[in-house]
Amino acid sequence: MVSSRGAVEFFLIPSFFALSLAQPFGTSKLQWGPCNETEVPSDVPVECSVLYVPLDYTEPNSNETLPLDLVKVLSPVKPSRGSILFNFGGPGEPSRSVIGGQTLAENLFALTDRQFDLVTFDPRGTSGSKIPMNCFEVESDAWSFLYDISVGNQSEVELGRQWARGKMLADACLRTQNKTGSLLSSAFVARDMIQIVDALQEDGLLRYWGFSYGTTLGATAAAMFPDRVEKMILDGVQNPHDYYHEQANFQEWTDSDAEFSAIFTGCVANRDNCALATGNNKTAAELEQEVWDLLDTVKYHPLFARNYLLDYNNLKSYLVQQLYGSAGWPAGAVFINFILTGQLDTVADVLDATGQANVTDPFATLSLYQALAGIYCGDNQVRTEKFEDFLPAVERLYSTSRILGDGAIGVASACQQWKIEPKERYTGDFNVKTKSPVLFIGNTFDGLTPLVSAKNVSSTFEGSALLTVNGYGHSSLAVPSACTLRTTSAYWSNGTLPAEGMVCEAHFPLFSPGASWVDPINEVYGNGTATAKRDVSHLHGFRRSLAPLPLKW
Ligand SMILES: *[C@@H]1O[C@H](CO)[C@@H](O)[C@H](O)[C@H]1NC(C)=O
Ligand SMILES: *[C@@H]1O[C@H](CO)[C@@H](O)[C@H](O)[C@H]1NC(C)=O
Ligand SMILES: *[C@@H]1O[C@H](CO)[C@@H](O)[C@H](O)[C@H]1NC(C)=O
Ligand SMILES: *[C@@H]1O[C@H](CO)[C@@H](O)[C@H](O)[C@H]1NC(C)=O
Ligand SMILES: *[C@@H]1O[C@H](CO)[C@@H](O)[C@H](O)[C@H]1NC(C)=O
Ligand SMILES: *[C@@H]1O[C@H](CO)[C@@H](O)[C@H](O)[C@H]1NC(C)=O
Ligand SMILES: *[C@@H]1O[C@H](CO)[C@@H](O)[C@H](O)[C@H]1NC(C)=O
Ligand SMILES: *[C@@H]1O[C@H](CO)[C@@H](O)[C@H](O)[C@H]1NC(C)=O
Ligand SMILES: *[C@@H]1O[C@H](CO)[C@@H](O)[C@H](O)[C@H]1NC(C)=O
Repeated sequence: MVSSRGAVEFFLIPSFFALSLAQPFGTSKLQWGPCNETEVPSDVPVECSVLYVPLDYTEPNSNETLPLDLVKVLSPVKPSRGSILFNFGGPGEPSRSVIGGQTLAENLFALTDRQFDLVTFDPRGTSGSKIPMNCFEVESDAWSFLYDISVGNQSEVELGRQWARGKMLADACLRTQNKTGSLLSSAFVARDMIQIVDALQEDGLLRYWGFSYGTTLGATAAAMFPDRVEKMILDGVQNPHDYYHEQANFQEWTDSDAEFSAIFTGCVANRDNCALATGNNKTAAELEQEVWDLLDTVKYHPLFARNYLLDYNNLKSYLVQQLYGSAGWPAGAVFINFILTGQLDTVADVLDATGQANVTDPFATLSLYQALAGIYCGDNQVRTEKFEDFLPAVERLYSTSRILGDGAIGVASACQQWKIEPKERYTGDFNVKTKSPVLFIGNTFDGLTPLVSAKNVSSTFEGSALLTVNGYGHSSLAVPSACTLRTTSAYWSNGTLPAEGMVCEAHFPLFSPGASWVDPINEVYGNGTATAKRDVSHLHGFRRSLAPLPLKW
């Protein structure tokens, strides 16, 4: 998902934390207390608790438990009308460590009518959980793997390397995660969510908002426990049929190239705020072509900015990160313009200043990639033995999108050769009749999860509604909109579904200075409701010298 956290200030008193507050397995009422502020940095009031859930749901007689750390961000309007569970995708995106950030919390409050507590946890297999996926034992192995994470078309030998790396990872994970690796799956996490709902002792019903992969988790939970669904928003929808049953997420990149092109059309429509187009009369097509030409050039003749290599791999990863949200496009245009105009020292200064390129802990940096593999590969039901039988899938991805087609080859390679079989995997369909209707949200130009996937899943969820947000980026969070605020708030508060065919417009045109949720929030709830500093756009996608950020959903 996309989230930008403002400066984090710690104001909670140090806690005497977790385990003393924990409840033994079997009892229900959670006890909430202060959070560990290292794990749960927060700018807004939060409480934490631990719930012991069954470690292995397929062993009903076992008393082995998994402690699930919970965070609750307290509703600004009291009394709270209950809790909404959140998942931010990945799988493996951090949850507990981000939800208390000022910007994210304010946005989520506003999107939920400010009347609900926001609850989250780090699902099993993720780095914030007690059974993270850590497949590397030796630091040099982790560095080696990290530096080999590459987009598939970086060279003609890359696909074979990625295929071998995928098998290495699958083998390493089997060796090191033999005990807990099979206890990871979306089905188990869905059961964990129901345990949480029970322990919350509200109405025993699930209120859930999932983004990106979180939509697959939500759809799975809804399919397994349809009678438990009170309200659910699936936002930035992934096609769960592809996720579970195909060699790759084939539908996922449907709109990626269109969103990428919008960077350049948006740029020329607002030249004054787009460094690539100020002071010239270039068309959008010309600007886009310059960037493709740059990619082709650095493929064979990489540039460098001090200690940063600007090769195809790094540059493409950087461009792909732009698809997460248009708020970063003005800064992205400045950055690309520095490269195109040869201001490479400045490029290095920018990268130094963001610090995102400074990897010091390869284990931590790999944790998202491994969580994603551990959960997605286990959930996925296809295995491919031979490299040549994988190549048609690669071709299909390449022909779907030029910008993203070669973006997730490494993960798909690992999954097709995955060795750990989960104890439980969801194998059912998505013809679901939930207790109350689910609300789906899709953006017209979401390069990571296309609108067609939202339509696909919505069409088999009886009584569900689809809200279309006319905007660019990944999930509704990427597109500030007063209309979205009103629509989702009415859903959470009153169960009101948007009319069929409803489209919400973005609050800002592309390349508007200072686009953020602050203005639509203040418009809907009154000036001063949103106090967060405006969203700052980060530079994603660059690593010092080599490895790009792993791709996630
Ligand atoms: C808080 O979390 C950090 C990081 O996990 C851990 O090292 C520390 O011991 C925790 N503090 C307490 C008081 O439990
Ligand atoms: C868990 O089960 C084992 C074997 O049945 C038993 O020896 C142990 O005391 C139990 N532990 C707890 C905490 O109940
Ligand atoms: C997994 O662990 C079990 C029990 O420790 C062991 O018998 C088995 O050989 C291990 N499998 C692998 C592939 O390491
Ligand atoms: C852009 O086009 C306008 C109108 O044709 C012309 O006056 C102006 O000089 C051009 N600017 C540049 C930088 O080429
Ligand atoms: C990243 O590393 C560079 C070079 O070592 C250093 O100058 C910069 O301050 C670092 N940035 C951050 C945010 O740590
Ligand atoms: C892969 O790379 C080759 C050589 O640079 C290029 O011709 C081709 O268009 C690329 N394909 C994709 C899907 O990126
Ligand atoms: C949904 O997507 C899957 C996989 O692409 C496809 O097989 C199925 O026919 C689609 N269902 C609908 C209702 O569009
Ligand atoms: C929910 O319904 C009530 C009563 O009709 C209305 O006053 C309120 O504005 C609605 N809430 C939202 C967020 O639409
Ligand atoms: C809120 O602020 C906007 C922009 O500063 C201003 O135009 C508007 O009148 C204010 N509304 C109220 C109700 O104060």
